[in-house]
Amino acid sequence: MEQIKQVSQLRQTVDQLVKSGKKIVLVPTMGNLHAGHLSLVEEAQKHGDCVVVSIFVNPAQFNNPQDLQNYPRTLEDDLAKLQRLNISKLLVFTPNVDDIYPRNLKSPTWVKESSIANNLCGASRAGHFDGVVTVVLKLFNLVTPNVAIFGRKDFQQLQVIKALVADLFLPIKIIGIPCVRESSGLALSSRNNLLDAEQKKIASSLYQVLLACADQIKNGANDFGCLERQAKESLQNQGFKVDYFKICSAKTLETANSAQDRNLLIAVAVFLADVRLIDNIEINL
Ligand code: PAF
Repeated sequence: MEQIKQVSQLRQTVDQLVKSGKKIVLVPTMGNLHAGHLSLVEEAQKHGDCVVVSIFVNPAQFNNPQDLQNYPRTLEDDLAKLQRLNISKLLVFTPNVDDIYPRNLKSPTWVKESSIANNLCGASRAGHFDGVVTVVLKLFNLVTPNVAIFGRKDFQQLQVIKALVADLFLPIKIIGIPCVRESSGLALSSRNNLLDAEQKKIASSLYQVLLACADQIKNGANDFGCLERQAKESLQNQGFKVDYFKICSAKTLETANSAQDRNLLIAVAVFLADVRLIDNIEINL
C-alpha cells in the first residue's frame, strides 16, 4: 500500500499505470472507514489491477459548518484498516483542501446536476450534491479510473453520479454496492460514531420502519401517501426528527406513482440528537 498526498505525485503514478495498460478502480471516501467502506474496497479489487482509495473530507458538500467540524477524521486508523486488507496494488490518496480547491474553495468551478439532485437529501441540504458532483469529477480527472465504486446506502448520490457520467460522456463504469448493516439492522455510517449506545439502539429501528413499509407495499398496499404518514408518525414516536420519508421511483427519485412504478425506493432521512441519518430500501414489484 502506498499513501500519496500530493496531486503531482498522484498524476505521475497514474500516468505510469495508464501507460502500462493497468485498469484503475477508484473508491472515493471521506475517511472514518468502517466495514461498509472496506466492502467497497474489496469489491474494487475484483474490477481492475490497481485500487485507488481517496480519503478527503470535502468541505464543499457540507451545508452546515458544525457538521463539517464534527465529521470524524481518523486517518491513521483508516490507513491501518486499508493496510490489513492486503491488496496487492493499493494507492491511498489523501490530499488536503488546498490541493483539491487550488483556486478558491468558496467559488470554484462548480458542476451541477439538477434533476435527481433536487429531491430527497438535495431538497433539504442546499448545495450538497453540487459539492459531491464537483469533487467526484475532480477525483475522476485526477485518478482517471476505468471503474468507480459507490455504496447504495447513498442511493441518491449514486444516481447523481451515474447522471454525471452519462451527461458528460465520462468513460467510467459506475458500480453500486449494497449497504452493510450491523446485526441490529442499523446501516453502517461514519455518523453512527456520534451516537451513544442508547441512541444507536433507537437508530436501528429506522431499518425496521423501512422494512415494515416495504412489506406492506409488497402485500398490495398502494396508498403511498398514507404509508409515508404512518412511517413518519412511528419514527417521531420513537424520538426521531424526520426530515423526509418518501416512497419514490428508483429511477427519477420523484414521488412514486403506485399504478405505474414497479422499481421503488423507500428513502428516509432523520435527525437523532442532531445527528443526521439516512437509509433506504429498494423494491421491485
Ligand atoms: O460518499 C462519500 O463519502 C462522499 O460523498 C464522496 C463520494 C467521497 C464525495 O466526497
